[in-house]
Parts: sequence; structure tokens; C-alpha cells
Amino acid sequence: MLELSGVTAGYGETQVLHGVDLVVREGQFHAILGRNGAGKTTTLKTIMGLVPAKGGEIRFAGDSIAGREPYRIATLGIAYVPETRDVFGALTVEENLHLAARIGVGRAGGWSIEKVLAIFPNLAERMDNGGNQLSGGEQQMLSIGRALLMNPSLMILDEPTEGLAPIIVRQIFDKLMELKQAGLTLLLVEQNFHFALNLADEVSVFGRGQCIWTGTPDALRMDEDLHKRWIGV
Ligand SMILES: Nc1ncnc2c1ncn2[C@@H]1O[C@H](COP(=O)(O)OP(=O)(O)OP(=O)(O)O)[C@@H](O)[C@H]1O
Ligand SMILES: [Mg+2]
Repeated sequence: MLELSGVTAGYGETQVLHGVDLVVREGQFHAILGRNGAGKTTTLKTIMGLVPAKGGEIRFAGDSIAGREPYRIATLGIAYVPETRDVFGALTVEENLHLAARIGVGRAGGWSIEKVLAIFPNLAERMDNGGNQLSGGEQQMLSIGRALLMNPSLMILDEPTEGLAPIIVRQIFDKLMELKQAGLTLLLVEQNFHFALNLADEVSVFGRGQCIWTGTPDALRMDEDLHKRWIGV
């Protein structure tokens, strides 16, 4: 569904990605792990067109998407939830959902606000609250809900569990597992090793602006050397 080959990118004169190769298959949960500064977020932003690709090829569902405007990439069916969480603080939960639903109209996928609230019942109780009145966990759920309403063929999440209490991390895990069973395709950047490995079908390890390794969670669990060099204990 998504294929990066030899992607280079950076900020101004600074090159950060030095030839990233990555394949995400349809229906797969693919996790990216790696130390701080490895280029994980930059890779996601380059896929979305928020950071321009300088070289290499990015293909999504058969189309070459490198160099396209971010909104065009989004309308092709990639929903991106950044680390900052994509919630309008000044709007209510209901308004946040309605805005996202409008973008998803006309796309196959069948997501509705009712379906999102069935997955995230907490949000149903908070419909009249402002986005900025939500807890971190509720904001993350609203961000994921908004992403689903765009009826994406691929969802991209950057560190969804960052800064959340263990009990909330567990809830997000369960919800993502439900979405996996429903057939969603997900590309996930995550520092929480167990969260990522228990969820993913395939894992890529990033280091110094490249994808160093790709394999199954089990293969990664057994590779101590890979851990020590690129992930940390
Ligand atoms: N807006 C920016 N301008 C300049 N340099 C940046 C910018 N954003 C990131 N960088 C640099 O690019 C490199 C990769 O950053 P990136 O955010 O992609 O890493 P990451 O793997 O997501 O790390 P983390 O685990 O901390 O989120 C780092 O050296 C970082 O300092
Ligand atoms: Mg990052």
C-alpha cells in the first residue's frame, strides 16, 4: 500500500533522512522503533508532504506522491495523527468530529460519528466539552476518531502513548487492537517497546536517518544486538 525507496529529506541545509526504505502492506500494522532523533517523525512528515522529499520515491496505492501538497496526500486516503494530537482546542468534541467527518464524505470506509463513539464511549460523554478541556488520553482518542472519520486507507500515528498514564495506554492499545481486527492499515511510530511489538505485524528499526532492520516482532525480541545498538535496553 505504501512504499518508500531511497527517500532523502531534511530541514534547510541539514539532511536528516539518508535513504529510507519502507514497505507497509494492506491490512498490516507496521511499527517504527528507534532512538530519539533517528528520523522517525521526519519520515512520517515526508510521507505526508509536510517535509519535502529531496530524493527517492514514495508510492501510495500505486501513485507516486512525493512532491504533492499535504492536503492532496491526505485526500488520497492517508490520515495522519501527529505527536501534538490533531484536536481543535477552541471547538467542542462534537464540532471536532463533524469537521473531520466532512472531509471523509464520499470516501469508502463507512466510518460515522456514531461508529467512532461506539469505539470511544468516553467521547460520547464529552461531546459538549472543548477540545482543550480533555485529558491527554481523551485528546488522543479524539484525534484517532477524527482520523477514522476521514475514512482513510492508511492511518499514521506518531507516538500515541506519549505522556499517558499506563491505564490509558492500555485503553488505547485495546482500541487499536479492535481497529486491527476490523482490517485497518496502520503505520505507527512508538517508543513504548511492548506496546509496539504486541500490536504490530511487522516492525522497522530506524537509526541515523535510515531504516536499519525490518522483521517480525518475535525476530526483534530475540535479537539482543539489534536492541543494544539501535533501541536501548
Ligand atoms: N523542524 C526541524 N528543524 C531542524 N531540524 C529538525 C527539525 N525537526 C527535527 N529535526 C532534526 O532531525 C533529526 C530527526 O528528528 P525526528 O524528529 O525525525 O526524530 P525522531 O526519530 O522522531 O525522534 P523522537 O524519538 O525524539 O521523536 C533530529 O536530529 C532533529 O534534531
Ligand atoms: Mg518523533
